Amino acid sequence: MYKLLLRPLFFLFDPEKIHHFTFSLIKITSKIPGFPAVFRSLYVIEDKRLERQLFGITFKNPVGLAAGFDKNAVLYNELANFGFGFIEIGTVTPRAQVGNPKKRLFRLKDDQGIINRMGFNNEGLEAAILQLKNNKKKLIIGGNIGKNTNTKPEDYTKDYLECFFALHPYVDYFVLNVSCPNVGSHAKLNDKDYLEELIGAVQKANKTFEVSKPILLKIAPDLNNDQLNEIIELVETTKLDGVIASNTSTDRSGLKASDALLEAIGNGGLSGQPIKGKSTRVIKYLADKSNKAFPIIGVGGVHSAEDALEKINAGADLIQVYTGFIYEGPSLVKSINKAILAKK
Ligand code: FNR
Repeated sequence: MYKLLLRPLFFLFDPEKIHHFTFSLIKITSKIPGFPAVFRSLYVIEDKRLERQLFGITFKNPVGLAAGFDKNAVLYNELANFGFGFIEIGTVTPRAQVGNPKKRLFRLKDDQGIINRMGFNNEGLEAAILQLKNNKKKLIIGGNIGKNTNTKPEDYTKDYLECFFALHPYVDYFVLNVSCPNVGSHAKLNDKDYLEELIGAVQKANKTFEVSKPILLKIAPDLNNDQLNEIIELVETTKLDGVIASNTSTDRSGLKASDALLEAIGNGGLSGQPIKGKSTRVIKYLADKSNKAFPIIGVGGVHSAEDALEKINAGADLIQVYTGFIYEGPSLVKSINKAILAKK
C-alpha cells in the first residue's frame, strides 16, 4: 500500500513539507480509537528471540529509527506502533535553532537516496524535555546530542554537557553526534585529542548520576582506515560504550543523478542506498580490526532485509533506518525483523 499509493503521492510534494505532513498524519490517526492497534497488528512483531542485550539495555528488537527523523521527540510514542525496537531522538542542541535556509532536503529518486543540509534545525533542549516527560515507556529512547551552530569552538563541550545533564533522566542511551556534515566545525570534531577531551568530560558528568547511561559516538562513513584506527583507539582508551556507523556522506561518486542535478542541489549529507556499501565497510573494518571489542549500531542505506543482514554479518549489533523508511515505508521494519527470525 505504501509503495503503490502513498509514496507516489508523497513524492509529488516538497520533501520537508511531506515530512511534517506525515508527522501530523501519524499523530492524528494515532488518536483515533482502534488505529494504534491496527498499526501494531500490521507492523509489530513481539518475539523474545528478537530481544538484544547491549550496554546493559534490553532492546525488544534490533531495528531502530535513526536520528534526524524525530528531532524534537514529538512522535516517538506513536512510532512505537510501527515495529521499531528503539528510537533515537535529536540531534538536540541546547538552544532552539532554525537550521539552514530552505530548500535543504532533496530526493535522489533514481539512486534511492536523499541529500540534506538541514543543519540541526530543532526546538532545543527544553522543548525536547517537555515532550520526553510524556514517554509512555514503550521503547528504548536514544538521545542524540550536538552543539549549536553559532557556539564558539571553546564552548563545544559546554553545549554537549548541557544536553547531557538535562536529558539524562529522560533517555536510555546517549549519542555524541560529531559527524554531521552540515554544521561546519568539522576540523575540531574530527580531532582525536578533542574527542578524547569531550568524551572524558561527558563520562565525568555521567558519574555524577546514581545510574550512568551508555554513551556512543556517531561517525561519518567517509573516514579512511587511519581515521578508523583512531576511532578504535579512542573507544579503547576512553572505554566508550559503542559506535554508530554511520552518518551521511559528503562523497557523491557513483551516483545515477546527473552532475547538473547534483550541482543544483549543492552541499549536504547523502543518505540511503548510495551509502550502503560505505557504511558497511566502516562497520566491518571497526569490527574486524578491533576483534569486535565494542558494540556497533549499523546505519546507512538499509532498504531491505538483505541490507540489514549484510550489516549484521559485517559486525553490527543493532540496525537503524532512516532513508529506507521513507522509500520503503513501515513494512521495512517488519521485514527486517522477520528475516532476523528466519535466520535463527
Ligand atoms: C539525518 N541524519 C541525522 N543524524 C544525526 O545524528 N542527527 C541528525 O539530526 C540527523 N538528521 C538527518 C536528517 C535527514 C533528513 C536525514 C536523511 C538524515 C542521519 C541519519 O540518522 C543516518 O545516520 C543517515 O541518514 C544514514 O542512514 P540512512 O538514511 O541511509 O538509513
